[in-house]
Amino acid sequence: MKSMTVWLSLIVLLLGCSPRAIDYDQVGAHDKLIIRFSHVTGEETPKGLAAKRFKEIVETRSDGKIEVQVFPNSTLFSDKEELKALKRGEIQLIAPATSKVSPLVPEALLFDLPYLFHNQDDVWKIADGPIGEELNQLLEKQGYKMLAVWDNGFKQLTNNRHPIERPEDFKDLSFRIMPSKVLAKQFESVGSTSMVLAFDELYTALEQGHVDGEENTVSNIYSKKLYLTQKYMTKSDHGYLGYFVLTQKEFWEAIPPEQRELLEQALVEVTEWERNLALDIDIKEYEALKAIQGLEIYELSEEEKQQWREAFYLTYEWFASQTQDEIIKGFITEIFEEGTSSKDK
Ligand code: SIN
Repeated sequence: MKSMTVWLSLIVLLLGCSPRAIDYDQVGAHDKLIIRFSHVTGEETPKGLAAKRFKEIVETRSDGKIEVQVFPNSTLFSDKEELKALKRGEIQLIAPATSKVSPLVPEALLFDLPYLFHNQDDVWKIADGPIGEELNQLLEKQGYKMLAVWDNGFKQLTNNRHPIERPEDFKDLSFRIMPSKVLAKQFESVGSTSMVLAFDELYTALEQGHVDGEENTVSNIYSKKLYLTQKYMTKSDHGYLGYFVLTQKEFWEAIPPEQRELLEQALVEVTEWERNLALDIDIKEYEALKAIQGLEIYELSEEEKQQWREAFYLTYEWFASQTQDEIIKGFITEIFEEGTSSKDK
């Protein structure tokens, strides 16, 4: 009872009586902190496995004082709902694709620019540096907190109409996209149309032919068996798919410092582990996809990737004209000028 009073006083003090951040009933009933982690991918994906590892580490180290409940596969909330559910305090952790955060913080669109990153190290320089910090500040203004950036690798294209080898092959095809204006521009710039759909709607949309194709990582194509609905895949590595691990700011700041440090340390370790795991899974599952009968795979050469990058160029121009953020604008201008000078050569 005494510890319950301490908990409640702390929460009231820190939250100014806001009922949103911590579930009072749970704290009272179990005298433990319960963290619900909702996500949309399978359990055996980089995100799914990292969520499970986070749970194991936190529960062991906290001696049962913190419980992490993981809800994979959109079982609790779909990606359309999870940001709002986090804000309402119905869940405490999510890890949406950066594209899905962009309606809230348009600067996150940066991660969607086609062929922006050569490899994961390029991504971490951005995510773990001043731009990552800037994005966190913007998220904090909206009541969220970015705790880490996780990886799922580069996106590939799948479709059911014909092989996509050259930029002209995109013409008149329709693609499912995540809610990102940059992704819409990317497809528009090569003559395709796009439709925003949630991840849990994707398989059926492809199966029923509502769209011709989609872009995704090897891990998502493999774990969600999207290859069963698609005849063609292009190993294009044209875009990046990573995750912002998010919590609600007030909730996080109300956690007693000792427990918060434990959680943050666990996240540091899991993030490092997850990033290596994502690379391994990508390689292993690409081999598995290559063995699938009925899926025809075309691999772009480095030269072809450069041609695609130029074909997607309008996307960069559009993003550079939209963004107001000085740090991101500076970064984009640099990339933009690099691209322009290589085009002029
Ligand atoms: C995810 O990896 O979380 C889902 C990606 C998608 O919606 O395509």
